[in-house]
Amino acid sequence: MSTTIYYFSGTGNSLKVSKAVKEGLGDANLIQITKDNLSITKDISSDKIGFVFPIYFTGVPLMVKKFVENLEVNKSAYIFAIATFGGTTTIALNQIEDILNKKGASLSAGFTVRMPGNYQVMYDAYSKEVQEERFKVADEQIINIVDSIKKNEQTKVKVNGVKIAFGRLAYKTFKPNNMDKNFWVTEKCNGCSTCSKVCPANNIKMVEGKPEWQHNCEVCLACMQWCPQKSIQYKKNTLKRGRYHHPDIKVNELIQNR
Ligand SMILES: Cc1cc2nc3c(=O)[nH]c(=O)nc-3n(C[C@H](O)[C@H](O)[C@H](O)COP(=O)(O)O)c2cc1C
Ligand code: SF4
Ligand code: SF4
Repeated sequence: MSTTIYYFSGTGNSLKVSKAVKEGLGDANLIQITKDNLSITKDISSDKIGFVFPIYFTGVPLMVKKFVENLEVNKSAYIFAIATFGGTTTIALNQIEDILNKKGASLSAGFTVRMPGNYQVMYDAYSKEVQEERFKVADEQIINIVDSIKKNEQTKVKVNGVKIAFGRLAYKTFKPNNMDKNFWVTEKCNGCSTCSKVCPANNIKMVEGKPEWQHNCEVCLACMQWCPQKSIQYKKNTLKRGRYHHPDIKVNELIQNR
């Protein structure tokens, strides 16, 4: 019995969940979804396949969508998806279900796990107290998720019609590629290149010791959130806001071997 969990994560929430599920299952491979790993187009040997990712604009990050669309799977595999989110969930799991159905496979189970929101473009970082509360609830929930996966439980993705309509509208406005035009760096940047290394989309070139964004952005915010100097800003929105990444995840865990 082999399990592979494919995860996408900007600030570590989805990686933390993936690691906890791997530990609970006892035996699973973890593979990060990055631009480099889009070359993985076949997984017909895993009996269980998981996709773990954050919710963006109510739906699935573009790179995850592309990855799942491109992946040939064993149609009888038990396939689960876990979406981490900060506020509300709507269409993300339905999107994964639709992609799988189109290739003759199905989503056996879908779960959502509430974590601290990391979209500091819109709101401040959550307080440590709220973060801790969410981690506690999430830890308990993950025990049940692992139990469901172990038992091959089938769960239906249930979202009401109004939420789906709202989600579709919100997702239509999600055009991440050029949003990186809004990033800039303060004088605190010391040229360490962490931002470039942590970017899952290889979207940051270092030019004369400063990051330059290449307009192939996923808006995962990894660059901004992991910058050790807190130097990266999004317009003026983030100047006075805190930064967030999951406290148990180290930046090196998200940096690929390059
Ligand atoms: C571009 C962007 C859009 C987001 N949109 C939503 C959203 O529509 N609903 C929501 O609940 N959380 C939203 N979030 C918050 C993330 O889904 C949440 O913090 C997630 O756990 C981050 O996972 P990660 O740490 O693995 O990157 C958004 C975050 C980003 C960066
Ligand atoms: S991570 Fe921050 S300090 Fe390091 S190069 Fe990027 S912007 Fe500059
Ligand atoms: S440039 Fe920054 S926000 Fe865009 S994909 Fe790379 S790390 Fe994520």
